[in-house]
Amino acid sequence: MTASSQEDRKLQELIKLYEQRNYAKAIKVGESFTKKYSQNGSGWNLLGLSYKASGEVTQAIEIFKSLTKSAPDSAMFQSNLGNTLVSIGRIKDGISCFKKAIKLEPDMINAIEALGLAYLEINEKEKARNSFEHVIKLDPNHQRSLYFLGNLYLMTQDWINAAKYLKGSNFGLSQSHYLECLLCLGKGKEFLNFYKQLTGRGVTNPLVGGLVAHVQELYKKDIKNTFCNDAMKHVYVGRIEEKDGFSDELAKELIHYHRSNKNDYRSQSLLHNGSQSSGNLFLLNEPFAKTLKSCIEKQIEIYKFNFAESEQGFLKHWPKNYELFGWLISITSGGNLDTHNHKEGWLSGSFYLNLPQAESQGKDDGKIAFSYRGPKYPAGGRVSERRIVDVKTRDICMFPSSLFHETVPFHGQEERISFAFDVKPLN
Ligand SMILES: [Fe+2]
Repeated sequence: MTASSQEDRKLQELIKLYEQRNYAKAIKVGESFTKKYSQNGSGWNLLGLSYKASGEVTQAIEIFKSLTKSAPDSAMFQSNLGNTLVSIGRIKDGISCFKKAIKLEPDMINAIEALGLAYLEINEKEKARNSFEHVIKLDPNHQRSLYFLGNLYLMTQDWINAAKYLKGSNFGLSQSHYLECLLCLGKGKEFLNFYKQLTGRGVTNPLVGGLVAHVQELYKKDIKNTFCNDAMKHVYVGRIEEKDGFSDELAKELIHYHRSNKNDYRSQSLLHNGSQSSGNLFLLNEPFAKTLKSCIEKQIEIYKFNFAESEQGFLKHWPKNYELFGWLISITSGGNLDTHNHKEGWLSGSFYLNLPQAESQGKDDGKIAFSYRGPKYPAGGRVSERRIVDVKTRDICMFPSSLFHETVPFHGQEERISFAFDVKPLN
């Protein structure tokens, strides 16, 4: 066997491991491959991607930075560096990489779309729209960009245009969002029929769960919710104490990291008098990230054990592959987070790092309130139940991601700081 064919065979093995999501082994093989064939850019690229996929973001960034230096004409390396930076909340740095990639390769759909997604993170909606429209111009049937364009119309509650794009896409939650459009366009019969179709196709997720819960509660429709009936009964409050490993010192470091603005704040129109971190905080190479992850993983196991007898869809069909996605929200006096649910989650939670408990406050100030009513969905003047859950500093509140929730405004000198997370299914 010649040297080059052996190199190629090894590279194929590495590609296969990466495609099989066997990242631990891909890293092992990738490390020895790049040691032996240090000039092989594809090998380094796969090693970087494997590091990124397994949460070793610092190593991934190092590799992609070095690749962009050694091969300045490669749009792919620039784009991969951009994606990695965005994953840890460095949105503006990511944008600059995507722009460089597009300059090198003007029709590179992945980079154009990634640029649009990065713009969305910082609320540059028009620029995001231009990027997705650019993709559709290059490939009119591009499922992902059709979905993202539909989502932009959902944001402005332009249900007709949203439906137009979403109906033709099978990517992500497109079809579930189409169900949402039917409800919001007042097409009750079509809504019920399409829900039946989706159920037949095995589609269940928090978005559908939230829609059906709204229809059950507001319109008293006797339909079964494939995600979770009685979601309010599936709210669980636990505790993460110092003895569990997450010390006050680590909590301070996490809050300090957030305030130092090392990652960009995410634009969040629902949040008043507050800031939200970008990217996934669990991916940071900081001591607090790893400890918090293991504490929260334990709490999720406790949650599942607690509801082991439950027959609800989200528990029976717990995702085989998922990632934990975490972010920090800090709110100052007078602020709150408006009602929403987490369509891309499965189980959601909040770990309270600091809940101000001033004497002068109303008894529910700063707490979390749950309801079945979707804030953007038609309610026809009907009212719905709202349940406030009592939480204190170091409590962790977990609930099905379909459940709508908000924070009760509070007033006081201290900040209300919570760490939110989702169990996020991976396809
Ligand atoms: Fe939330």
